[in-house]
Amino acid sequence: MNIGLMGFGVVGRGVYEIVSKREDMRITKVLCLEDISLPDAQAVKDYRQIVEDETIDTVVEAMGGLHPAYEFVRAALEAGKHVVTSNKALVCGFYDELLSLAREKGLRLRSTAAVGGGIGWLSELERSRRVQELTEVGGIMNGTCNYILDSMTRLGLDYGQALKQAQEKGYAEANPSTDVDGIDTWHKLILSMNVAFGVRVDKQTVPVSGIRNITAQDVAAFKAHGRVCKLISTGRRTEGGFTGYVQPTLVEAGSPEAAVPLNYNLITFLGRFSERMSFYGQGAGRYPTAYNVVQDLVDVLSGKGFYAPYGPAVQADNGQTLCYYVRGSWTGETTQDWGCGVITGPVAVGDMHAWLADHPDAFAAGLR
Ligand SMILES: NC(=O)c1ccc[n+]([C@@H]2O[C@H](COP(=O)([O-])OP(=O)(O)OC[C@H]3O[C@@H](n4cnc5c(N)ncnc54)[C@H](OP(=O)(O)O)[C@@H]3O)[C@@H](O)[C@H]2O)c1
Repeated sequence: MNIGLMGFGVVGRGVYEIVSKREDMRITKVLCLEDISLPDAQAVKDYRQIVEDETIDTVVEAMGGLHPAYEFVRAALEAGKHVVTSNKALVCGFYDELLSLAREKGLRLRSTAAVGGGIGWLSELERSRRVQELTEVGGIMNGTCNYILDSMTRLGLDYGQALKQAQEKGYAEANPSTDVDGIDTWHKLILSMNVAFGVRVDKQTVPVSGIRNITAQDVAAFKAHGRVCKLISTGRRTEGGFTGYVQPTLVEAGSPEAAVPLNYNLITFLGRFSERMSFYGQGAGRYPTAYNVVQDLVDVLSGKGFYAPYGPAVQADNGQTLCYYVRGSWTGETTQDWGCGVITGPVAVGDMHAWLADHPDAFAAGLR
């Protein structure tokens, strides 16, 4: 296998190192905008030097972002190359385009590292769905949010202090909005639902709310009531359809989710035979993530394409009701007062997210 590697940052360098020790594949060209010199690969600055190279059969995309990653990956598929990517925004954002192009061209497209970094989550969903119907996927999918919430819970920090600490330790970016507003988790949930349920979920029907409005007072109230706040994604089969949403969630203090520390992930699927199966580990990092990119390359070598068929388009129905902790000018039914916030009566998930969109300073967390 001759590989063109696009992107030579945290993940790209890890992939380069692992592949350079293998006999069954080699990286012949690396797309990198900086001046670098590599012992056994040619560094190039124009992606066309990779997509037009007929000796290259597989492209690894490790640049991130939507553009120009989409244009480069699309060009690679059009040129007849298999693609492995770690980019969840790309695969989620252009799911239809990339899957149909790969299918039409008879090419393999894999993206295991895109969800869970070093956890073999998508590849396990692929294996699992061969034997059973999956009924639920989700969990803690974003290490940055978990780090912030964990620091607030264990150390009593306020949101700003916990975010600053996460940034100093390299767990949060200078602009953390993709993580703290739940967008990264949302991408991962949609991709997981598509693979687990064999569908194409309409992204606009999956609501998301993040953690940026949580305060130290909220967290103290949760503690006093035996709860811990985590950013949790939920994708589920319902009677006749699907539901999917990402939101802060108050789990029981003794639950497995409550115990997830630092920047770790805990992702779970539920199946008819296997029942509940959870995966715990580093959701990011150079070598864990590169490890899964190389696993995908081995799968491409053995003929494996995407994890699930190009399924029917479906909409998520968010009529399911939950009780919420809300801090803000909530005027609906309440059942308890926790000091700085109240517990609502049952509210449809979609209605609560619509209310949050109209109240940008409020904070809400579903009770589980
Ligand atoms: N890091 C993780 O632990 C992790 C885990 C799971 C998934 N991922 C995913 O993996 C992807 C890469 O992440 P990363 O952490 O490796 O990011 P990174 O360290 O920022 O590396 C990306 C590299 O791609 C380069 N690049 C960007 N645009 C380019 C272009 N047009 N031409 C050539 N090179 C270009 C960047 O160069 P400049 O710096 O010069 O812009 C940078 O060196 C992302 O999609 C991310 O979501 C990362």
